[in-house]
Amino acid sequence: MKLLGIETSCDETSAAILDGPRTVLSSVVSSQVEHLEYGGVVPELAARAHLRLLRPIVRMALDQAGIALDDVEGVAATQGPGLMGALLVGFGFARGLAWARNLPFAAVNHLEGHLLSPILTDAGFEPPFLALLVSGGHTELVRSPEWLRYEMLGSTVDDAVGEAFDKVSILLGLGYPGGPAIDRAAAAGRADAWPFPRARLAPGSLDFSFSGLKTAVRTVVERRRGELGLGPGERLPAAEQADLAASFQAAAVGALLARLDQALTAHPTPRVVVAGGVAANSALREGARALCERRGVAFHVPPLRYCGDNAAMIAAGGILRLEAGHRWPLSATPVADFGRLPL
Ligand code: KG4
Ligand code: ZN
Repeated sequence: MKLLGIETSCDETSAAILDGPRTVLSSVVSSQVEHLEYGGVVPELAARAHLRLLRPIVRMALDQAGIALDDVEGVAATQGPGLMGALLVGFGFARGLAWARNLPFAAVNHLEGHLLSPILTDAGFEPPFLALLVSGGHTELVRSPEWLRYEMLGSTVDDAVGEAFDKVSILLGLGYPGGPAIDRAAAAGRADAWPFPRARLAPGSLDFSFSGLKTAVRTVVERRRGELGLGPGERLPAAEQADLAASFQAAAVGALLARLDQALTAHPTPRVVVAGGVAANSALREGARALCERRGVAFHVPPLRYCGDNAAMIAAGGILRLEAGHRWPLSATPVADFGRLPL
């Protein structure tokens, strides 16, 4: 089935054409630059940019796939979670197109899209798998015993890990989005320069907490700024920024890997997935790969282009769900907060 997928849950406007769940004919992702000067995504600006960009992006996806709109056999869009205004644009477009052309329509959970993203590149990818889903909005440990079934094993009790990267980056004056900036700065720093705390949750818990780590970084940054007599617009010296970025990253990634290791012991599973925007982090990719090697389990992490938000993963989820017989009424609407998995 040739299916058009659309993703507009946050600040990426994306369209993709897949021919079956494992064959990407085209994938177009446009990251909005409207938000850079605000240090975070402004929901109303995101919705307006999606409105402006979506039609040309869909056109590009069709052109790059070398097919016409008439060749499209199904449509899928992200139903949520995400920003309501942003979701409405892509979801309304997709549902309207499906209705007008009498095509099957799939409403896909954004988190399921991330969990399934290895299917786009890894021929051997299949359940059962244990997934660490790490993004700007989510930090979850999920087990999938079979296709389209999920068990939630653990979740963050406060900030998402991507959110922690973004906030620490602002604190360090490294800008937004913070993940890539910290990753780059950390490469030149010493990970053991500052012994930041790892959250201690109840023994056996597979939950995460990142707000204590963020506060610990803030305390050090404010103290050092005071000691150096820095004014509001002035940054710490680059070497100190790098040490703080590397030490924060080591603590955050260490916490993720410790939980993943614990989850593998509690729920032995032959395959591990690390997915979501933070799966682009170089320390996390290397650490998770080493952990999986040591534990003797297969490791799946999407290439960078499928770590962040993209419509190809949504299209894959849509095809799998349609093939499994799922159908959505024309009255289906976006859902800003899906709550927790299972879906
Ligand atoms: O999946 P995603 O694109 O959007 C959400 O669904 O949230 O994830 C975005 C998050 C942001 O917090 C961004 O800072 C983080 O992924 N991120 C990274 C890296 N690249 C993106 N975090 C750490 N290291 C990176 N290299
Ligand atoms: Zn996402």
